Amino acid sequence: ICRTRIVDVLKMDSFGTIVNVKGWVRTRRGSKQVNFIALNDGSTINNIQIVIDIEKFGEEYLKPITTGACISVNGELVESLGQGQKAELHACEIEILGTADPNTYPLQKKGHSMEFLREIAHLRPRTNTFGAVFRIRHNMAIAIHKFFHERGFFYFHTPIITASDCEGAGQMFQVTTMNLYDLKKDEDGSINYDNDFFGKQASLTVSGQLEGELAAMSMGSIYTFGPTFRAENSNTPRHLAEFWMIEPEVAFNEIEDNMQLAEDFIKFCVKWALDYCIEDIQFLNNMFDNELIARLQSVLENEFVRLPYTEGVKILEEAVAKGHKFEFPIFWGADLASEHERYLVEEHFKRPVILTDYPKEIKSFYMKQNEDGKTVRAMDVLFPKIGEIIGGSQREEDFDKLSRRAAEMGVPTKDIWWYLDTRRFGTAPHSGFGLGFERLLLFVTGMTNIRDVIPFPRTPRNCEF
Ligand code: 4AD
Ligand code: MG
Repeated sequence: ICRTRIVDVLKMDSFGTIVNVKGWVRTRRGSKQVNFIALNDGSTINNIQIVIDIEKFGEEYLKPITTGACISVNGELVESLGQGQKAELHACEIEILGTADPNTYPLQKKGHSMEFLREIAHLRPRTNTFGAVFRIRHNMAIAIHKFFHERGFFYFHTPIITASDCEGAGQMFQVTTMNLYDLKKDEDGSINYDNDFFGKQASLTVSGQLEGELAAMSMGSIYTFGPTFRAENSNTPRHLAEFWMIEPEVAFNEIEDNMQLAEDFIKFCVKWALDYCIEDIQFLNNMFDNELIARLQSVLENEFVRLPYTEGVKILEEAVAKGHKFEFPIFWGADLASEHERYLVEEHFKRPVILTDYPKEIKSFYMKQNEDGKTVRAMDVLFPKIGEIIGGSQREEDFDKLSRRAAEMGVPTKDIWWYLDTRRFGTAPHSGFGLGFERLLLFVTGMTNIRDVIPFPRTPRNCEF
């Protein structure tokens, strides 16, 4: 008989039929006569209970069924008398697919620390917590495509290997051409390879935005969704060297439209999580601070605040005057630290804030310049517990202003001639933003370290496999 996923078995009520499940043993307990196995196959947070009549199989045969072992069970579906699941399986046949030596299998019983689990990233999806997180991660990816597809956006693939530095921050991983089978060795024996991509300087992309803009200026509304890379040597709970970003870009949108899109988009994703991942979210809610679901609902119920940077700085300065202590100084022109962002969101407004019109010095060259000559049409969406979850802007569509600003900020205009072409030929207002996928997941799952919402985190000193 074919395998049925445990998530589906638990919904069945055709009691008396025989079904097959395959999965990994979470626990085994019981007496000399009867044993109960909690079996999980990753399809759901819930385990199915397998009831085993010891005499039928023999103790010796059942011995290797320990935590972590993989088994295949044919069993009769029986209405469960205990609380919780409505169905359990009474085993007729058990095949042991793979054993897990109790002396060396790292996931024994409960209560491993997140730090420990990070060191066994290859096994941690077998825990309840990481199973829940990665199922939610999948569902959020589906939600993202659904949201944009339904609004007529095209999913546009921008390159990962690129010659341009979108954010102009110089935080790029360089690409090298190295033929492992034909290594040139220097006299001292050290490997010598060309520090380039077939004779041209190239790096891993920090953002698909510039190419996304080209697409918007031909196809109207597009979005990217792919991995991006930042060679920043920072060790925080919110930064990765490799993270996934969603970047919509829309022709004819002004900054106000961009803000509305960002708000609708995040709310759609949060609602999706509550609609389709509620069991996993409920588990995470109970496991941590018990406020996760309330936080998610509160985001849906409230409109995001729209606040110019200058006003934001005033609020922060007033907080300082009233005795609030920040680690970093706050003044007009300062880049906000995460503590500042979180003060605005968590203490002052108590809901998400879209901060706009930042000083041009602390933002990228491509942002549309305001009339005041000092600020640009930037927008950062700030979230409780997270800080910045989205960074975006209206783009400068004027060729002269854009080239001047690029030159001022040290971006060689000859290298971005293709980008400037969109302003040379049929320019138009357009806007977009980037949502950090893992930052969204931090919010939706309630996890507190970004290393715990991506299967294989890439951070300084963390590239085991
Ligand atoms: O604010 P950022 O740097 O903006 C851009 O890259 C723009 N080109 C986006 C655009 O307008 N199309 O990054 C956007 C978002 C941040 O708000 C944050 O959520 C996330 O990407 N992010 C990171 N996430 C994890 N680790 C990092 N090192 C991140 N850097 C940025
Ligand atoms: Mg940013």
